[in-house]
Amino acid sequence: MKRTHNCGELNLKYVKQNVIIAGFVNKVRKLGAMTFIDIRDMYGLTQVVINEKTIENELLNKIKKECVVSVSGMVTKRKSINKDIKTGDIEIIVESLQLLSIAKMTPLLIQNNTDALEDIRLKYRYLDLRRPVMKDIFLMRNQINWEIRKYLQDNKFIEIETPILNKSTPEGARDFVIPSRMNSNKFYALPQSPQLFKQLLMISGFDRYYQIAKCFRDEDLRSDRQLEFTQLDMEIAFTDFAEIRKIIEPLFQNIFKKIKKIDIKAPFKTLTYVEAMKNYGTDKPDLRYDLLIKVVCDAFRKSQFKIFESCANNKEKVVNSIFVEKIIDKKQINELTRIATQNKAQGLAWIKYENNEYSGPIVKFLTNEELENFSLIVNPSKKTGTFLIIADFKKNAYPAMGAVRVEVANMFQLNNNGKNEFVWITEWPLFEWDDEENKLTSAHHPFTSPVSEHLSNFDTNPLEAKAQAYDLVLNGYEIGGGSIRIHDLTIQKRMFNTLKLSSKQIEEKFGWFLKAFDYGVPPHGGIAFGLDRITMILSETTSIRDVIAFPVNSSGVNTMCDSPDAIDSKQLKELKLKLIK
Ligand code: AMO
Repeated sequence: MKRTHNCGELNLKYVKQNVIIAGFVNKVRKLGAMTFIDIRDMYGLTQVVINEKTIENELLNKIKKECVVSVSGMVTKRKSINKDIKTGDIEIIVESLQLLSIAKMTPLLIQNNTDALEDIRLKYRYLDLRRPVMKDIFLMRNQINWEIRKYLQDNKFIEIETPILNKSTPEGARDFVIPSRMNSNKFYALPQSPQLFKQLLMISGFDRYYQIAKCFRDEDLRSDRQLEFTQLDMEIAFTDFAEIRKIIEPLFQNIFKKIKKIDIKAPFKTLTYVEAMKNYGTDKPDLRYDLLIKVVCDAFRKSQFKIFESCANNKEKVVNSIFVEKIIDKKQINELTRIATQNKAQGLAWIKYENNEYSGPIVKFLTNEELENFSLIVNPSKKTGTFLIIADFKKNAYPAMGAVRVEVANMFQLNNNGKNEFVWITEWPLFEWDDEENKLTSAHHPFTSPVSEHLSNFDTNPLEAKAQAYDLVLNGYEIGGGSIRIHDLTIQKRMFNTLKLSSKQIEEKFGWFLKAFDYGVPPHGGIAFGLDRITMILSETTSIRDVIAFPVNSSGVNTMCDSPDAIDSKQLKELKLKLIK
């Protein structure tokens, strides 16, 4: 029986028509001689009514939740209308029924609210995806992709695919490598991004490139990170940051308008990297709430409270504070202290301010004058609430307070205000010092151009040098990052030298890429966005796994198909891989 309609389209217009619909059994109810079944497909739900005289009991008894059925019958007006569904005015009086596929009892309920553990949801992902909330996420993701493609095509961007099996692109993570059967003991690396290829496309003369590209990074997983994720990747010739903003801001305004019916104001805010770190303790600040970090050293320079005094007077250290307009209880303080120490602060001090009085364990060590001066900086309008304070090395105190700030916002739902706050982070350092590896690394990637003022001295003063790089942050998530690239061979080589790559390493890793610089390179720049993260924010979920059809769990395992998996000795032999013990 071929269906004539889907389960979401029938209404009073169709009354008296004979139709055929098909789908999953969502619900079965028996009322005397009548059986009511809700049939579900991607488009909706339709109620069908079966009289026991029409269909054999034996067949009817087999119809259970999630079986796949097809029914034919006549559309009639319902006696009791269901306003909650699109087809709630009608029902189908069944004339024949076909059971197309039997379903066992499902390990999770196919409904929006589920208490199933994520393990079960991922193991039976195909069932999890049947839940309407999950289906809606993928419909939204599809619409986001569609809006992006329409907008970029209208703006003269062309989509070009770049290789998956290729040489390593350095984006700061480990590569996934694939052994080559035809070239024994040689490996492809999966792309961490299409970075070098999109630059080569500029050298090939394509003016505006984009790609919805799969990227692969072997790094520790978080709620907004997967091993395999999707970028909207873009590159433009003869461009600058101002032009990139003019392209990107309307793109996001358009996505929000079409998908969420929300007007986003442009131009988006900008903060320099230093401003972001100082005021929010992070390079991806959530601007949906204030909770600004204040430096309070001035209040404690002469304090008897030695921890504050010593940090206030040491150039490498700081005493900083945020004021929360809430009285924070002991349990919450303990949780915030845990967050602070997890982020490398020695501890978290707190002072309550209520009924014009300061209280808390450190108040007895501070003079009234110190408290008043301190309060004037962080809480000048003298509201009731709690001060949180960290005294430590700057490199620990800012990120730790930044993490505390985010946790306070979660605790008191300050981020649940319907706002969407975009902010560009600019003026990035060109390099960072990697404490663990004890070496200089690129803050973005090694193809990022220094700002023009630092072109001459970025290699002599690397940690002072600024990059022509920019990130786009939305609601505290880094949704995209890019830069204006180096298009001059000498500068690119100086960049590699600063990163302490030997001539041999440069030749081996990037010789193929640098060769192209001999034949005319248009100045160019670009950006890439995390499409999974954007979908996550738009669909108001907090886990990237919710917006990827078949994600891996937090240990990098796809429990549905047991991947990664061992390979057998025959396969190993074919690859001619030498096993090194
Ligand atoms: P970057 O490394 O900043 O830049 O990546 C761009 C954006 O991709 C998203 N992203 C991720 N999403 C999910 N899981 C991950 N593991 C993951 N890693 C990154 C983030 C990030 O902002 N080639 C440069 C771009 C350029 O310079 O044009 C690049 O890949 O949202």
